[in-house]
Amino acid sequence: MAIIGLGYVGLPLAQQAARSGLTVVGFDVDAAMVETLTSGRSHIDDLSDADVAEMLELGFTASTDESVLAGADAIVICVPTPLSLDGEPDLGPVISATTTIARQLRPGHLVVLESTTYPGTTDEVVRPILERHGLEGGLVAGADFHLAFSPERVDPGNAVYGIANTPKVVGGHTPACTDVAAAFYGRFIDTVVPSTGTREAEMTKLLENTYRHINIALVNEMAQFCHEMDIDLWEVIRNAATKPFGFQAFYPGPGVGGHCIPIDPNYLSFKVRSTLGRPFQFVELAQSINLQMPAYVVERIADLLNDEGKALRGSTILLLGVTYKPNIADQRESPATPLAALLLAKGAHLVFHDPHVETWTPGGATVPRADDLDEALRSADVSVLLQNHRAYDLPHLASTAKKLFDTKGATDSPGVERL
Ligand SMILES: NC(=O)c1ccc[n+]([C@@H]2O[C@H](COP(=O)([O-])OP(=O)(O)OC[C@H]3O[C@@H](n4cnc5c(N)ncnc54)[C@H](O)[C@@H]3O)[C@@H](O)[C@H]2O)c1
Repeated sequence: MAIIGLGYVGLPLAQQAARSGLTVVGFDVDAAMVETLTSGRSHIDDLSDADVAEMLELGFTASTDESVLAGADAIVICVPTPLSLDGEPDLGPVISATTTIARQLRPGHLVVLESTTYPGTTDEVVRPILERHGLEGGLVAGADFHLAFSPERVDPGNAVYGIANTPKVVGGHTPACTDVAAAFYGRFIDTVVPSTGTREAEMTKLLENTYRHINIALVNEMAQFCHEMDIDLWEVIRNAATKPFGFQAFYPGPGVGGHCIPIDPNYLSFKVRSTLGRPFQFVELAQSINLQMPAYVVERIADLLNDEGKALRGSTILLLGVTYKPNIADQRESPATPLAALLLAKGAHLVFHDPHVETWTPGGATVPRADDLDEALRSADVSVLLQNHRAYDLPHLASTAKKLFDTKGATDSPGVERL
């Protein structure tokens, strides 16, 4: 098999397939990263250098030469699906990867798109490129080659659910395409969930991520008025979570981050708006609440300083955990970045600490790293816990900091302010 795009999604997939005995080739346009992998080093959190070395021993090869695709039976696309500067889906990498495949496409190939995207992409964007350019216009999806969409559900840093034991939804262009794609994934994934078509499979991923986005926005809004009403929302959520049916706990925080939750719902609202001419109201509301959380955190920090007769200007604020989620180094879309910009604009002195990050330059600004954590906790006017990394000793943070503001509800030590 061949995997196009060897990032957070493509590389763990390559690992699982290689471990299951498949011969895996990876194609990526990033020559430096291909070189890194070829020399046995990993560039993502979930795989160690030893994992990459094991993959190489199992026959995995990474390449920038697209001709490696021709010899594979199945080609899986795992390239990024970002937003353009005006906030609309940027399918450039998907189009470019598909065009690359089209030049190498031959009868019998299985092509699967895994990149998260709006419903219709496989049928309206990927299929025409393959049919128009494959063998210079000679190949038809469902007849000459198989085409499917299978959403990637990888959860970086999750120690329980990885590629093999997370059920894989697969929707083909035709029933035969679904069967072929399901049989392919069944070789290295425990449970495959066949879906009727590509649109249903594409929409599945967007429902999952939009559901998270909206529920996080719900508790983020509640966190704000519960604080004003002097109600402990963390306890409320704990109570509600004892209900064995009909409730799933979501927790407030300083904002949503990562490559999926803040971005994917835009793909869906774009499609609803461009196809039907109306907004996807839940997504737009959730976005405005979640995007405003860093500003709310600044407000709460200002209130804490105010209680001490201090202003944000000139105060030292220590940010603890600047990645987008705990226990990983990924900073993509981390809410720490807009938070830093807001604090710097108010004249605060910033220091950061993160066991997974050596240098941090949010929005181009250089924020010094606190190498001596205890000293930084003692000298900062307010220390703000943004990610409760496993490496943090929370009671120690609480007892050492002059003032700790816990945006994750991770500690209930006395004197700690919680979001
Ligand atoms: N990271 C996650 O946790 C996660 C989870 C679920 C779904 N996804 C989705 O999976 C997709 C990939 O995300 P990712 O996090 O792995 O991205 P990534 O940026 O980590 O990796 C993508 C790789 O694709 C390569 N690439 C870009 N254009 C290319 C092209 N034309 N040809 C070949 N290679 C190309 C890049 O060089 C990069 O190495 C996205 O659609 C994302 O939304 C990501």
